[in-house]
Amino acid sequence: MSKFIVRPNGPLKGKVNISGAKNAALAILPAALMAPGRATLENVPDIEDTQVMVEILKSLGVDINRTGDTLHLDIPDKPETTVPYPLAKTIRASNLLLGALLARCGRAAVPMPGGCDIGARPIDLHLKGFQAMGAEVTLSQGAVVVEAKQLYGAKVYLDFPSVGATENIMMAACFAEGKTTIENAAKEPEIVDLANFLNALGAKVRGAGTDIIRITGMGPLKPVNYSVIPDRIEAGTFMVAAAITCGEIQLTNVISTHLQPLIAKLKEVGVNITDNNGLLTVRGSKYLMPADIKTLPYPGFPTDLQSPMMALLTMAEGTSIIVENIFENRLGLASELKRLGASIKIEGHTAIIQGVSHLTGAKVRALDLRAGAALVLSGLVASGETEVCHAKVIERGYQRLDEKLRSLGADVELVK
Ligand code: UD1
Repeated sequence: MSKFIVRPNGPLKGKVNISGAKNAALAILPAALMAPGRATLENVPDIEDTQVMVEILKSLGVDINRTGDTLHLDIPDKPETTVPYPLAKTIRASNLLLGALLARCGRAAVPMPGGCDIGARPIDLHLKGFQAMGAEVTLSQGAVVVEAKQLYGAKVYLDFPSVGATENIMMAACFAEGKTTIENAAKEPEIVDLANFLNALGAKVRGAGTDIIRITGMGPLKPVNYSVIPDRIEAGTFMVAAAITCGEIQLTNVISTHLQPLIAKLKEVGVNITDNNGLLTVRGSKYLMPADIKTLPYPGFPTDLQSPMMALLTMAEGTSIIVENIFENRLGLASELKRLGASIKIEGHTAIIQGVSHLTGAKVRALDLRAGAALVLSGLVASGETEVCHAKVIERGYQRLDEKLRSLGADVELVK
């Protein structure tokens, strides 16, 4: 079983290039199915999750070759519509094949998706959206099957601004007859990136990034060359790495506006951040102040950066409070951080963190992707050696985390 071995090695220093956004790529790859022919996707991170998505697309008949961060795709006229179970079960984002295939082929069968174990993660909102557009939804042998001879534009109100539901409905609506309106839509930058991609294919998606997205069904779409946005969560993880080691690093390939919720919190705790024409410099501070964080849909504080921030706040001077409002299991990290000497009390969805002066290395387990990365960050300052087991889960979402951290001076080893 793979593990990260981490030892403290002083403040991080240097420049790190941020990869393409995992969550944008995981939506854009299925969406590419909607336009037959040759397409090119640039800035696609080479991580476990995108590798699985590529395998899924191949199983549906897409020819794909990777050169560096660029994928060359040849999308067939008639893709298969059943996603194989062994592939679907490993990534949650396999559910995004539902909207793309339903739009393009009038049918999709996707085994109930897997992914990180961070809570119930139902897909009821996705399915309600499809049904509102006239699709029939059934459950057959553990797979969700959605079918429609013709989809019709509809008004869909999301009870919660779900990222996946917004993406799925947006894709399906591109082939629906008439106009679809998604109210209380998710506003994450990855939603905007997917909408930009769909529009580049020739779709008519308006309002992405606001509460209301309007899609006019357009029918046939044409393949394009497109570049995925940078990963704000990977960028955020490195920013916290600089802060926790009291280092100074520069990040390239970032969009700082996507990072505003984190930048505001890091400044609040005393970290210095400057943005010089897209080059983001993060300089840690010896004295870290405590902070209160509530995770919320974008532009609120992202749940994916809650774990790295929890790791950081264990070292702040005073009491911090984190309220996790998106995924109920994401505070599980606290029990692992406690093994390193952190002082954290969990009450329901709230973590109360009493800062400590030092952490001590120990054997810990990556419970999910972001919690795993957070433990690696704590390992950068915990005395002795920290062993983060179950590291495969970290590779799902971070491209060569060990190499990138080493290039900044960290003592990190990934043992496979
Ligand atoms: C996406 C991201 C994930 C991120 C999350 C929140 C991808 C591949 N993953 O996940 O990294 O942490 O957004 O920013 O893009 N919910 C329902 N019913 C539904 C759908 C969602 O109740 O039909 C609930 C979920 O259980 C969760 C909340 O809504 O509590 C948010 O989920 P959602 O925004 O859909 O997240 P994902 O798209 O799964």
